[in-house]
Amino acid sequence: MVEKNIKSLLKNGYFIYNVKDKKKLNFLKDDIFKESKKILKGKIKKNFFNEFHNINISNQKLNEYRLKLMKKVNVGEKFSKKGYEIFQEIIQKIFGLDIVAQKNVNLVIQKPNDPSQISVHRDAPPNSDYELVVWVPLVNTFKSKNMYILDKNNTSKLIKKIKKFSNNNKKSEKIMDFYYSFAFNKSKKHKLRFGQALIFWTGLIHCVPENQEKETRWSLNFRFKNTFSPYGTKGFPDYFAVANSSPITKLALEKKGSDFN
Ligand SMILES: [Fe+2]
Repeated sequence: MVEKNIKSLLKNGYFIYNVKDKKKLNFLKDDIFKESKKILKGKIKKNFFNEFHNINISNQKLNEYRLKLMKKVNVGEKFSKKGYEIFQEIIQKIFGLDIVAQKNVNLVIQKPNDPSQISVHRDAPPNSDYELVVWVPLVNTFKSKNMYILDKNNTSKLIKKIKKFSNNNKKSEKIMDFYYSFAFNKSKKHKLRFGQALIFWTGLIHCVPENQEKETRWSLNFRFKNTFSPYGTKGFPDYFAVANSSPITKLALEKKGSDFN
């Protein structure tokens, strides 16, 4: 399984990972549910996650709720640490033993027919090229209740085309139209179950479509990289915290902080 994942990462720039310890993933989901209950009080309904859009809440209140929730789940880097535990095996295979994890885990709630979150982009730059994103849906995804990913080959094709258009002074609206339509047409629309994660390289273009299904999409984003690889604009220790250290790093740090230096 791990070999297959690595092979796909090298070829496509991403892979779909089946979480082995689903209990830990359930812990995160339960925690979100419990905190939501506290914040939203009597508004919680059956099938909370998928039916979230049926809760009567203004956009402003929704934003306040999301910020409160993110603050709660990120206290003491709780979710970041849990995320590392969940993906430790595959993350160590990719990065080695010296690993940092993004301290704040991002939580995205996408209600049906909300046009505000449509986006086509890649994370690096400004993020590091030496970084991976672990995208974890908290509900089953399908059709537009999903995130689409452009593989390495198509990302490279699209970037080359855009550069060529820019050099030929093509109108910027035309370039943007091409960019969006190429990305949406050529991207892979994988159905992901809760219990699976899309692990992708920051260099890949990905698309967030408008959710036109009748269920709300919930997802978490974790980010990992090797402690000593180059950072993007989000550096250490402001954005990343050490998740694991190799024995040799532990010795070196011990020497640094002691009197046998
Ligand atoms: Fe992104």
